[in-house]
Amino acid sequence: MRRWQGDSIYFGGDYNPEQWPEETWPEDVELMWRAGVNLVSVGIFSWALLEPTPGRFEFGWLDRALDLLHDGGIQVDLATATASPPPWLARAHPETLPRQADGTILWPGGRQAYCPSSPIFRERSLEVVRAVAGRYAEHPAVVMWHVSNELGCHNAHCYCDVSAEAFRRWLRERYGDLARLNDAWGTAFWSQHYGDWAEINPPRTVTAFANPTQQLDFLRFSSDELRAQLRAEREVLKTLVRQPITTNFMIGMGVKHMDYQSWADDVDLVSNDHYLTAADPQAHLGLSLAADHTRGVAGGDPWLLMEHSTSAVQWQPRNVAKLPGQLRRNSLAHVARGADGVLFFQWRASRAGAEKFHSALVPHAGPDTKVFREVCQLGADLKALAEVRGSRVDADVAILFDWEAWWGVELDSHPSADITYDDRLNALYRALWRAGVTADVVHPSADLSGYRLVVVPTLYLVRDADVAALHRHVEGGGTAAVTYFSGIVDSNDHIRLGGYPGAFRELLGVRTEEFFPLREGEQVRLDDGSTADVWTEWLHPDGAEVLASYTDGPLPGVPALTRHRVGDGAAWYVGTRLDDAATDRLVARLLDEAGVRPPVPAPPGVEVVRRRDGERTWLFVLNHTEAEIRLPARGTDLLTGARCSGELMVPAGAVAVVREDRTDDPA
Ligand code: GAL
Ligand code: ZN
Repeated sequence: MRRWQGDSIYFGGDYNPEQWPEETWPEDVELMWRAGVNLVSVGIFSWALLEPTPGRFEFGWLDRALDLLHDGGIQVDLATATASPPPWLARAHPETLPRQADGTILWPGGRQAYCPSSPIFRERSLEVVRAVAGRYAEHPAVVMWHVSNELGCHNAHCYCDVSAEAFRRWLRERYGDLARLNDAWGTAFWSQHYGDWAEINPPRTVTAFANPTQQLDFLRFSSDELRAQLRAEREVLKTLVRQPITTNFMIGMGVKHMDYQSWADDVDLVSNDHYLTAADPQAHLGLSLAADHTRGVAGGDPWLLMEHSTSAVQWQPRNVAKLPGQLRRNSLAHVARGADGVLFFQWRASRAGAEKFHSALVPHAGPDTKVFREVCQLGADLKALAEVRGSRVDADVAILFDWEAWWGVELDSHPSADITYDDRLNALYRALWRAGVTADVVHPSADLSGYRLVVVPTLYLVRDADVAALHRHVEGGGTAAVTYFSGIVDSNDHIRLGGYPGAFRELLGVRTEEFFPLREGEQVRLDDGSTADVWTEWLHPDGAEVLASYTDGPLPGVPALTRHRVGDGAAWYVGTRLDDAATDRLVARLLDEAGVRPPVPAPPGVEVVRRRDGERTWLFVLNHTEAEIRLPARGTDLLTGARCSGELMVPAGAVAVVREDRTDDPA
């Protein structure tokens, strides 16, 4: 079931006309036309200009901007304008400002300076939504609504008294009575037993390690509070507008604090922001993971890339610019992986403010630039790709991902600080990428039936029902691979007793009696020639066959890698942190066992993804190498119009999108 489909592949970005004199606006629209832009997000940070004093709205400039865009044939994703409150709100109501765990107040002057639980903020922001939506619901330019902006980007956790009260309400709702809370939080420990709800606070700065379940619940609560803002704005919008509603997520950039999977049902279409990590020489693999995860959150439906950058950003320590051709590869990689639109932050590079060194579609130097020329090229490319809109992405592999597991595994006082949630996720994802295989990154509760291989990195916290579903999937013939420190606790962060890896013991046919984390930099060797670090454990096979054991380190002779036949399938356990070469070998064996192959065989460094709509398929080929490559394909390259009948040549750094001949087509 498709939730959303736009009327073309969207192309554009955030447009902030309020930062510029009105005389420049017609030139903006002219240049948008030239570039092929068809959608811009307007008004995101405009609350302070729309409501300059409490209760008095000034819409004149926005009326004129929207009319101008409409006359120019540019469609609008209109913001609810609630992303950042105006300074008058904090002056009148300082209690709306967020507080950190140590009580520090976060003042206005940046953005998003509000407590997500503040009823005053909620009320004032919804008034803005009502005013904006009431005025523009029928505006012919508006095709989409943009709730707030990156909810929780800077204010995910607030520890103020208002938030404390809201946290207590949330806990009452979750637990009903205090006895259940005391049990869930394990408060028999360290004299933490609560006799009254009023004694409970957010995990503010403490003397020693804060109660882990209190921390976990506060993370859940905080995500829910931000989600409540999304839902409240959506509810207001739903009474006034008919266009689809979205808010931009931040999936895949290390943004941990919003459980976007739980938010996915609150939007009509999933949209995401993604920026490359300049320090990562393989940043395009991080991009692919983010896109595959966004698609997973969207349930496989098409999604929208709401923001990325034409070149450098301004918020990393060293803001590396994109080399010629990179903008195109980055954008089309998102499309390959299911995006039905490519938007950027932002249209015109700012002259003032904290983001003035951030790239844009129109740079400071103007349109006679590499960036603007590449923007125009991309506009033409996306027009040529119109027919892929609405299609889905082929994937035989699922990687399980859960924000709660992430929160749990990175709590303090654990066996090793070297275990992070994204470590094995990235390692396994990148090994799959190198093998040319596309994966969906999905929640553990997702329907696994279409997948041949299910990869389970570091799923520390897991629910019984999800373990049972995976078990059934393997029994039915699937292959699964689980990495260390998975299945350790239940939803309350209580240890699953009887031996590790707790919830997965039966599926994996192993039992670990003790963890043996390694010292910083310490390496161990395995008898299959691999090396590993960070983690070892005293594991006993309990039905599983041993594939590799340690030859040195604290546990010589103890199994490190095992495989357990379950029904018609098999479950593999990886008990240590394998090096990259060993991870590649492991993934090759898993793919082989599961019968998963890349869409077509491709040389290293070449990204190949297939989108499909029933019988029609498109092969996206992105050449990230510095040499021309060739691979087998039959069809028409939509970007060049060229036919290829057997062999496709893609120049260094270039992209091809082949509408594949159907096997029943005449040759
Ligand atoms: C995003 C944000 C935009 C802009 C951009 C810069 O986090 O939504 O408003 O700040 O980053 O990269
Ligand atoms: Zn607060």
